[in-house]
Amino acid sequence: MINIAILGYGTVGSGVYEVLKKNAESIKRKTGRDVVIKKILDIRDFPDHEEKHIFTKDFSEILNDDDIKIVVEVMGGVSPAYSYTKAALLQKKHVVTSNKELVATHGAELLKIAKDNNVNYLFEASVGGGIPIIRPLNQCLAANEITSIMGILNGTTNYILTKMIKEGKSFGEALKRAQEKGYAERNPDADVLGHDTCRKIAILSSLVYGKQVDYNLIYTEGINNITKEDILYAESLDSVIKLIGFSELKDKKVFARVSPMLIPSSNPLASVDGVFNAILVKGDSIGDCMFYGKGAGKYPTASAVAADIIDIIKNIDKNMKFYWEDGSADYVVDIKDSFSTFLIRVKEGAREKAKELFGDVEFIHARGVKGEVAFFLPSVNEGELIKKLSQLEGFISKIRMAE
Ligand code: HSE
Repeated sequence: MINIAILGYGTVGSGVYEVLKKNAESIKRKTGRDVVIKKILDIRDFPDHEEKHIFTKDFSEILNDDDIKIVVEVMGGVSPAYSYTKAALLQKKHVVTSNKELVATHGAELLKIAKDNNVNYLFEASVGGGIPIIRPLNQCLAANEITSIMGILNGTTNYILTKMIKEGKSFGEALKRAQEKGYAERNPDADVLGHDTCRKIAILSSLVYGKQVDYNLIYTEGINNITKEDILYAESLDSVIKLIGFSELKDKKVFARVSPMLIPSSNPLASVDGVFNAILVKGDSIGDCMFYGKGAGKYPTASAVAADIIDIIKNIDKNMKFYWEDGSADYVVDIKDSFSTFLIRVKEGAREKAKELFGDVEFIHARGVKGEVAFFLPSVNEGELIKKLSQLEGFISKIRMAE
């Protein structure tokens, strides 16, 4: 028998409870142990719950209970999750989490504390919801040098964009539906403005490149400025718009960003729709490898948390050597020093000025869009581009393009 505690009984916490109960037999078969949920911490009361006696509002009841070996932190946010996690690890309890904000902020420190105390801090559910990605990157692809990661890492925004593209839904309608389905963060700005994707690409980058990537240094744009016209341009170019988290390791520096991108239909990420996420990694031995599955939602996320619990039970007496080091302040390159290919939209009257600034560019039209044109800029320095665009009267918008 192994006793665990769950911190936070929201969407993910209640999903973990249900998955552990529903699959108790198969979990026992795989681990040889019964998993007993001994305590659940939540500030709310659950008077109608079938096990209402296991709820507590006092974390010390969990921390000081030596029979509780695994703590499942699914509260979200940095405070108080950070202090609870640290205290649990120092007390030699294993911790499993879905909390990307905490892993992205304090991952290096918490992983070191886990290592020093011969326990584990696992976070499979923090990226890609139910998709196995953290463990495969750390184990199955461990023999590769991963040189780049490109992914659709947020289910809510992918769901919204898909509804807008395929069903002509408004942004607001699609967001409401995503919230009803339990995909969105408590504050949907975290999804829509790209912050959730930013934390996830920071975690993946930290893991595969081996040093903490500070998410505050990652350039981040959301989907809040995407218009019907952008979608029509994408259609005309046989592409779709996706919110992409990207990172690349070059000369021991990390180039990372989060932004909407035009993805051509030939790219495997183009057909990833709805709440699905997909992560394309490039390894020096494997080449391209894509991970695909449900990136958000109660049960997909709970299944990833449960997988970590199972892994810990199988490795209850050892640290699984799962960690990265602290990163330096100059580890992430400023966006102004990076290069991307862009589609630039301008008003009809701006053609001459655009040619003056960017040379003999070729203008294109999108079916159904009037009064404006667009042109491509292949592999331009972003700092230079921003300077030139500030001089371009009639500039409407810019969007990065994938190959
Ligand atoms: N709000 C997140 C998403 C939940 O939509 O992907 C999973 O991290």
